[in-house]
Amino acid sequence: MTTFLITGANRGLGWAMVQQLVQTGATVYAGCRSPKNSFNLQGLAAKNSNIKVIQLDVSDENSVLEAAKRVSTETDTIDVLINNAGIKLDEKDLQDISADRVQKTMNVNVVGPLLMAKHFVGLLKKSDHPRLVNISGRLASVLMLEDKTWGSYSYNASKAAMNVTTRMMAHELKADGICVVAVHPGWMQTDMGGASADLEPSESAKSVLGLIANLTLADTNKFLAYNGEDHPW
Ligand SMILES: NC(=O)c1ccc[n+]([C@@H]2O[C@H](COP(=O)([O-])OP(=O)(O)OC[C@H]3O[C@@H](n4cnc5c(N)ncnc54)[C@H](OP(=O)(O)O)[C@@H]3O)[C@@H](O)[C@H]2O)c1
Repeated sequence: MTTFLITGANRGLGWAMVQQLVQTGATVYAGCRSPKNSFNLQGLAAKNSNIKVIQLDVSDENSVLEAAKRVSTETDTIDVLINNAGIKLDEKDLQDISADRVQKTMNVNVVGPLLMAKHFVGLLKKSDHPRLVNISGRLASVLMLEDKTWGSYSYNASKAAMNVTTRMMAHELKADGICVVAVHPGWMQTDMGGASADLEPSESAKSVLGLIANLTLADTNKFLAYNGEDHPW
C-alpha cells in the first residue's frame, strides 16, 4: 500500500486529497502547522488509523527535521511526497511590495519544499515507486504571462523558483529512481483561489491523485496540468 506525505493537509487541496486517500487505505502523513487546531484532520485520524497527523511548518527547518524523525520511527518508506503547502499574499502593484512579504512567500513556497526534499529524500529513496510532487501553478509560467498578468509579484516569482528547483531535483534524483514533477492543480475554490474559481478542491484532488498514481520515472522533470497534459514552463 502506498505511503503519502502531504504538507498543508488541514484545508484546501491538501485536505481534499487526504479525504480521498483515506478511502483507499493508503497511509497518509498529514502535515499541518497546528495539529491541535486541525479538528477535521484529528477527527479523521481518530476514526482511521491510516491517517497520521504530524506537526509541520515547512518554513521552519526544526519543524521539518522533527517531522522527519517522527515519520522515520513509524515507517521505512515514503512513496509520495506532495509539497502542497503554499501562501499567496496579494499585491496590486509594485507599491505593495515589501521585503518582508516577498521573503515570507519565498520561505513557504520555495524554501519549504526544498527543506522537505532535503529531510525526506532518504525515506523516498527506500520506496519501490518514489514520486516527489511540487504543487506549483499556472502563475509560475513565464510563457503564460505573455498574454495576461495575473497573481502577484511574490507569489508568481516563488512558484517560478519552485519550478526551477523541481527541475534541478529531477536531475539530481533521477539516479535514485525518484520521479520529480511540478503540477498545476487548476484554479480551485479554496481560501487561496476564492469562491469564483473553476474547480471544487475535490475535483482537483481527484485529478491530481490520479495523475500521481500513474507517474513513472519517464515523467520526471515535467510540469503537468491537473488533467495530465504538459504545462508550458
Ligand atoms: N487555489 C488555487 O486556485 C491554486 C491554483 C494554483 C496553485 N495552487 C497551489 O495549490 C496549493 C494548495 O493551495 P490551496 O488553494 O489549497 O491553499 P489554501 O486553501 O490557502 O491552503 C494552504 C495550506 O497551506 C498551509 N500552509 C501555509 N503556510 C504553511 C507553512 N509555513 N507550513 C505548512 N503549511 C503551511 C496552510 O496551513 P494553515 O491553515 O496553517 O495556514 C493550508 O493548509 C498551494 O501550493 C497553492 O499555491 C492553488
